[in-house]
Amino acid sequence: MRHIENVDLAEVAEAVGTPFYCYSVAALIRAYTMFGLAVPAGSLIAYSVKANGNLAVLTLLAEMGAGADVVSGGELKKALAAGIPAARIVFSGVGKTKAEMTLALDAGIHQFNVESEQELLALNDVAAATGKSAPVALRINPDVDAKTHAKITTGTSENKFGVPIARARGIYATAATLPGIRVVGVDVHIGSQVTALGPFEAAFARIVDLTKQLRADGHAIERLDLGGGLGVPSDPKSYGKVAARAVAGLDVQLIFEPGRALVAEAGVLVARVIYVKPGEGRTFAILDAGMNDLIRPALYDAHHDVVRVTGTGEGRGVYDLVGPVCESADVFARDYEMPALEAGDLVAFLNAGAYGAVMASAYNARPPAAEVMVQGREWSVVRPRLTDDALIAADRIPHWLGP
Ligand code: LLP
Repeated sequence: MRHIENVDLAEVAEAVGTPFYCYSVAALIRAYTMFGLAVPAGSLIAYSVKANGNLAVLTLLAEMGAGADVVSGGELKKALAAGIPAARIVFSGVGKTKAEMTLALDAGIHQFNVESEQELLALNDVAAATGKSAPVALRINPDVDAKTHAKITTGTSENKFGVPIARARGIYATAATLPGIRVVGVDVHIGSQVTALGPFEAAFARIVDLTKQLRADGHAIERLDLGGGLGVPSDPKSYGKVAARAVAGLDVQLIFEPGRALVAEAGVLVARVIYVKPGEGRTFAILDAGMNDLIRPALYDAHHDVVRVTGTGEGRGVYDLVGPVCESADVFARDYEMPALEAGDLVAFLNAGAYGAVMASAYNARPPAAEVMVQGREWSVVRPRLTDDALIAADRIPHWLGP
């Protein structure tokens, strides 16, 4: 694979240097369109900004009519800056501060997904103080195992997220008494990179049961936020059917918070081979991208397929693909069979559009990978690589040190 759409990755590498992320507009449009067709008509697709918060990606999604799921004041500002209307923004997360709540109330967002009674009371204080009432869904922890990696499981009682389903009715009763709170819905999110539909089915069923109870208790539940979590590869159509079946006859607005499903497949991370180093019984291909650029393999044992983009080596080889960072965890893949690699070759990690660039750091004083967007024959840098000087300039030396 040498091209993304009609752009030659080798040309981009020459111009911007490596490593860099590359996003395809066509793939983003395809993923968003397919998801939209898969879920019931009229659903709000609140793209989970954390998956890829690049302003160019957000702007494209905004133009297609997406909403946003944000988890910080920063993400809220980014979503608004990209032109996503506040009325299509939901605010999730376990630790919203009062400052963030104020920001979101002033903006007039669609919904707060509240994750604890403590947060509910804080939000009530903030809203009531300015005579507002905050539209709220409680995030329910349904105690369903999403059958994904432990570090991206959120819906079991072991996890910090949401309120236990057994306590939900009590907290809704409290919410109904608070002047700064307007109960509008119920929210659930069980984890990420979920590829089996069973866990979604189980979680949605619990949420629907709860909704019926809450309505019987007198709460006006008009919306169900079914969260994100759909993994890649997976089939949005079947997922949409599971959701539609679960809520049949309920008369609610559905909200979805897909992150990965919209952006993962639209992105690659391109790196150059620095050395091919023979070891005892294994060969290391040392790349100029490291765990600071793409941490998913180190953190979640994630697998990203790797392809050779340029290279003239003949036959195939088996490599441990590693980065230059001084950590044994800086490994992308072990015993990976692919076309023979030589120093100078370009390789690309696939499905790197989600949780790649956003999780990058400057560890080892390595400025994170640049980001590029491609449309047809055109490409554009959507985030330049920071310079070493810019990294240095970000630090400050206290007055009692130095000359
Ligand atoms: N909604 C909430 C409340 C979430 O916490 C998340 C993801 C999403 C939606 C979007 O989930 P998605 O559709 O992207 O699966 N860094 C990890 C994934 C962390 C997901 C955190 N929450 C990874 O690289 O796999």
